[in-house]
Amino acid sequence: MAIIEKDRITIRSPDDMHLHLRWDERLYHAIQHTFSHWGRGIIMPNTDENRPILTSKDVKEYRNEIFNFLHQFLATHAFEPLMTIKLVKTTTFEVVHAAAEAGVKAIKSYPLGVTTNSENGVSMNDLVTEFGGVFKAMEERGMVLSLHGEHPEYFCLDREDYFIPVLRQMQANHPGLKIVLEHITTKNAVQLVQQDTTGNLAATITLHHLFLTLDDVIGGSLMPHNFCKPLAKRPEDRDALISAVISGNPKFFFGSDSAPHFQHTKESACGCAGVFSAPVALPLLTSFFDEQDALEKLEPFVSQFGAQFYGLPLNRGTVTIERGSWTVPLLYSDSGSLRQLVPFWAGREISWNVVVRHCQLYE
Ligand code: NCD
Ligand code: ZN
Repeated sequence: MAIIEKDRITIRSPDDMHLHLRWDERLYHAIQHTFSHWGRGIIMPNTDENRPILTSKDVKEYRNEIFNFLHQFLATHAFEPLMTIKLVKTTTFEVVHAAAEAGVKAIKSYPLGVTTNSENGVSMNDLVTEFGGVFKAMEERGMVLSLHGEHPEYFCLDREDYFIPVLRQMQANHPGLKIVLEHITTKNAVQLVQQDTTGNLAATITLHHLFLTLDDVIGGSLMPHNFCKPLAKRPEDRDALISAVISGNPKFFFGSDSAPHFQHTKESACGCAGVFSAPVALPLLTSFFDEQDALEKLEPFVSQFGAQFYGLPLNRGTVTIERGSWTVPLLYSDSGSLRQLVPFWAGREISWNVVVRHCQLYE
């Protein structure tokens, strides 16, 4: 479907398969940058330590809140939030069935304490042993288990590797369960997904992990706006992610993991993990594929593979991106507010820009 010209590309309306929006005014900023480029997004449930999304009731409230914001922008029909709930000790198979009825597409597991708002996450032992009924119900309802794949008990750079045996055990226990290993950052995770033969394992890859290594976080000056979980790793890990994306393997699809945090909470003695990439995700991805001489691989990566793995219809609208340089703003804020957001690539140029979005969700 994509129309690729020298300075212009039109693709099927894309899906962001891993997105954080929050509850407060960050939702206002995140949603406006998202709906203007993306057709749907898998909305992560770790909204707030005190107000996580755990049940169908939470989902309905949160979805209403998202629609209220979309309504402010007269964009109610432009973007479909695909809701998730968080796996916690109190998640039961009844919770799963009610969530499925409420349209929930995935349940997200956060290892205890490993990332933003994961204080009520699960231990690795519980993940493997405690949720048999929950995972069975998810299989029945065709729901995806979305895994933050880091083992919290290990050294930070090794956490993804040590999660692999946990994942293998999960697969052995629940062979029919669809699993997405989220925001992978290592060569080993890429190989694991490539070599998997079950057909039930896929992975999201973010924008920032295609650009960053650990050097861009702590190699020179401390760069808090590049700090996220999982941490960006070694150059060979980034190269493996790039090859996976360029290979066109449908097991790898886009999830931005765009995660808005206020500037003062990132530029802090105890800074939050998360990169706010929503404003730049689609233009910078286009530029990435262009530089790799692989523009034809953009559309499947953002508009097809994720939907297919989740069993969703493909979007029907389009978005057009044109060659044309622009400079990413240093900050986004409401005028006068100190609660500002610093986007990924702030102050730098991007050589592609979204020019038209023709909204039309699937039939
Ligand atoms: C995410 C967030 O801020 O919610 N942060 C991050 O560093 N990626 C949580 C997550 O996906 O780990
Ligand atoms: Zn995330």
